[in-house]
Amino acid sequence: MEKGINELKKVIIRAKRVTVLTGAGISAESGVPTFRGSGGLWRNYEVTDVATPQAFARDPKLIWEFYNWRRDLISKVTFNAGHKALVELEKHVNDFTLITQNVDGLHRQAGSKRLLEIHGNLWEVRCTKCGVVTMDRSKNMGQLPTCTACGGILRPNVIWFGESLNPDMIHKAIEASQNCEFMLIVGTSGIVQPAASLAFQAKAKGALIAEINIEQTPQSGHMDFVLTGPAGEILPMLVEDFN
Ligand code: OAD
Repeated sequence: MEKGINELKKVIIRAKRVTVLTGAGISAESGVPTFRGSGGLWRNYEVTDVATPQAFARDPKLIWEFYNWRRDLISKVTFNAGHKALVELEKHVNDFTLITQNVDGLHRQAGSKRLLEIHGNLWEVRCTKCGVVTMDRSKNMGQLPTCTACGGILRPNVIWFGESLNPDMIHKAIEASQNCEFMLIVGTSGIVQPAASLAFQAKAKGALIAEINIEQTPQSGHMDFVLTGPAGEILPMLVEDFN
């Protein structure tokens, strides 16, 4: 692993156009559970049981219970050394984009600016009737929150399975992936599209790609660098020479 890190540091220190994609693994050391793993995500539900428009239509109170649990949990945690290291990287690189699949807001809290939250943000709600989006940082939104403007049922303003990403957002994410010299993939299982294809789009355009994860993923075999270990330990090592 040591040799991999030193070679990767040389790549990063020279790179002018860097794109990073993060997933739930970067927030794991903050205490936010990842989506996939033994025992399911919440109670005995799998993420695909509670993060779909069909599940919300069937039982909005259950889905709000899940999101209230997440709101409460995430309100009690903070960013970690991995998030901070990406803020350092952003300061060092001319053309930098951080694409995250996470809705926890921890990258923004840490200070990342050039950020694309492609799956939305947990703290935003959207009216299912009039479509208005508002920010609400309540730890508990109640059983079935409604819109103050029109009385419609509110839903979390996040992307669920089967829903399309914001076209402008995904356009920017694809552009950042196709135009970078180096792409770093951190803490994602690499199985949810379209995020999972971004590293391949970068590589197809000639970028070097690297993965940081505590375990092998379906993408590991395609990487130029694979650094195995916790993001909160490896990312700070990558940026330690910047200051
Ligand atoms: P997953 O839960 O699928 O994967 C988390 C990844 O993080 C796994 O590959 C773990 O091995 C890795 N990991 C865990 N702890 C780590 C650590 N300390 N350091 C580095 N890696 C670590 O989460 P995502 O890939 O983010 O989307 O999931 C993608 C999307 O699926 C989510 O954004 C969400 C979910 O359904 C939607 O809700 C639409």
